[in-house]
Amino acid sequence: MRVSLASVIILLVGTCCYALSIKEDLSPSREDLLRDEIQEALETGVVNPFLKHVLQTLKLETLLETSSYESDEEPEPYDPIYCALCNVGMDAVIHAVHNGTDPDVITDLLVELCVDLGIFNYNFCEHFLRDIEDQLFWVMENRANLTGEDFCGMLLGILGCETDNPDRIWEVALPDENKPPVVDPVIPPDGTPVMKVLHLSDTHYDPHYLPGSNAECGERLYCCRAESGPVETPEAAAGKWGDYRSCDAPQWLLQAMYDHIKIAHQDLDFIIWTGDLIPHNIWNTTKEGNLQIIKDCVQMLADNFPGVPVFPAIGNHESHPVASFPQPYIDNEFDISWLYDEITALWSTWLPPDVAHSVAYGAYYSTLIKPGLRVISMNSNYCYGLNWWLVYDDIDPAEELDWIAKELHAAEASGEMVYLIAHIPPGNSDCTRTWSHEFNKIVFRYESTVAGLFYGHNHLDQIMLFYDPVETTRPYHVAYVAQSQTPYTNLNPGYKVYTVDGDYAGSSYRILDHENWILDLDEVNQSDNPRFFLLYTAQDAYNMTDLTPKSWDDLLTQMKEPNSTVFDTFYINHVKAARPRLEKGCGDFCKSSLLCRLAVSDSSDHSHCDNL
Ligand SMILES: *[C@@H]1O[C@H](CO)[C@@H](O)[C@H](O)[C@H]1NC(C)=O
Ligand SMILES: *[C@@H]1O[C@H](CO)[C@@H](O)[C@H](O)[C@H]1NC(C)=O
Ligand SMILES: *[C@@H]1O[C@H](CO)[C@@H](O)[C@H](O)[C@H]1NC(C)=O
Ligand SMILES: *[C@@H]1O[C@H](CO)[C@@H](O)[C@H](O)[C@H]1NC(C)=O
Ligand SMILES: *[C@@H]1O[C@H](CO)[C@@H](O)[C@H](O)[C@H]1NC(C)=O
Ligand SMILES: *[C@@H]1O[C@H](CO)[C@@H](O)[C@H](O)[C@H]1NC(C)=O
Repeated sequence: MRVSLASVIILLVGTCCYALSIKEDLSPSREDLLRDEIQEALETGVVNPFLKHVLQTLKLETLLETSSYESDEEPEPYDPIYCALCNVGMDAVIHAVHNGTDPDVITDLLVELCVDLGIFNYNFCEHFLRDIEDQLFWVMENRANLTGEDFCGMLLGILGCETDNPDRIWEVALPDENKPPVVDPVIPPDGTPVMKVLHLSDTHYDPHYLPGSNAECGERLYCCRAESGPVETPEAAAGKWGDYRSCDAPQWLLQAMYDHIKIAHQDLDFIIWTGDLIPHNIWNTTKEGNLQIIKDCVQMLADNFPGVPVFPAIGNHESHPVASFPQPYIDNEFDISWLYDEITALWSTWLPPDVAHSVAYGAYYSTLIKPGLRVISMNSNYCYGLNWWLVYDDIDPAEELDWIAKELHAAEASGEMVYLIAHIPPGNSDCTRTWSHEFNKIVFRYESTVAGLFYGHNHLDQIMLFYDPVETTRPYHVAYVAQSQTPYTNLNPGYKVYTVDGDYAGSSYRILDHENWILDLDEVNQSDNPRFFLLYTAQDAYNMTDLTPKSWDDLLTQMKEPNSTVFDTFYINHVKAARPRLEKGCGDFCKSSLLCRLAVSDSSDHSHCDNL
């Protein structure tokens, strides 16, 4: 999930941007003045009260709240001034780092501002910023010729910032055989065999969730634990089965979900599990703590579904610190093998031994799960803008795109169909533009080999359409972005079950329909009886006769009509019918940005949003 880290990074760079005074006028002379002021603060460790006042008027904490991708409020469209400020501020910080300023001094300053500006409390600011300090400053020191604009453009794509560095554009070579002619898959007649596939995502299991603890705590990004402080009003108390506020999934919630699935879906062929197992207390993670949670989550799933194959993908929260995924060649103190080695061992619960090498190398794998169907699990953290290791080196990290193109090429040659699974959807604005663009080129080239694409990360239930780059009105694929298991935030816990064509010789393995089940937190808070129920089935809810990309595209056209009732239905399903989100509703800005997210699979190209 993106909100937490995005916010914190914005905080980090934002706090370096000391001057709203320049908001009206970012002239070169004022930029210089700003640079001097920041430099002075960095040298002396003292932020003058005037600058503090100016920063306060910037209202970074508001930006932090509305910067969430999934916000249903009607935020102001992002002001380009934030990118401009980030650029100037980060320039100064990078200079200071290169000029030997002690990183601790810079961090002290950031912590002080983080607290003084009321963005988070001391506990959060101090622990989180200390956790990321070493890596962040290492990247700033070691990336040659790094500028503020480059840094902010890589990290804050989510705010629309763009790098001016031409080196950030690169290409992956595709095998040169031509694309075979596209044949639209035939919708199988009724009575053809089908398979059932469970999609779980964003588990965010909190082993320390405490019912009745404070759900409105000072850390703000994560509460509902013993250490979350005094419960000041009865309403502030965390619910037993989870909470709409900033809290993740207790063990008994996940167990209730699995108990229900075992009974309601006895015919599962396999499970796709698209990552993010760690709770959102990002200032308080440790390597050992994360590994324990991953281990417990794997164990829970294996115990509840013996004999059912599970295909996992890695999420951005699995690392410590969060979102930090260095390239495989980084073998200094930041080496990521502590994580990849462990998931290699844990995933071997379900995966064959021959994937161990690639999982240990880059946390990705490709495996033939039955004759004719292959699952390729990608590590999308190498497209994640908030992974600061991409500032250091963003060129096809872990050679992942090169690898996947070769895998798809071999699959095409063998006549296999492929499911691509990963955590972060490629069209998200937090997936870096070049990676996303190159990935889309690969999917387009192998469109007849790819039978399905499955993601998580956004916590909300959505689709993502892929459009032909040449014949631009032709949708050629649709990805499914699954709802989260965690209620974080203002959501109900949920999961998806696909009905897919198969398994017989020549199956297309295309998705025919999907069911979506939830637990209503308000209801369970009253009844204390966790009742998962079917919220909707895609074909019924949207009056579709099939789930081809074309049919989803038609639905999009219908939804964009003003006062579209089918959009209202889609929105309810998107937010899993969670009361707080329904109360807020989805106005014009919310609607057009949501439809835009359904129409973009390449984060470098928003042209499909033009008429939405
Ligand atoms: C770098 O440090 C030196 C000596 O401490 C100082 O004279 C110089 O002005 C600094 N330059 C920058 C760009 O901060
Ligand atoms: C950094 O800039 C210098 C001078 O422009 C150039 O020679 C060098 O190749 C650049 N290094 C990188 C890694 O881009
Ligand atoms: C649960 O219900 C009680 C009684 O209606 C209410 O006071 C409390 O705020 C609710 N808790 C949550 C987490 O919704
Ligand atoms: C981190 O979490 C543990 C377990 O809940 C808790 O005991 C500790 O106080 C927390 N530390 C911080 C800095 O929040
Ligand atoms: C559902 O679709 C059919 C044609 O596919 C159409 O005749 C019917 O009017 C639609 N119903 C609604 C409620 O949109
Ligand atoms: C949409 O609904 C609003 C409020 O009911 C109404 O004022 C408006 O005219 C409607 N727009 C269209 C295009 O039907």
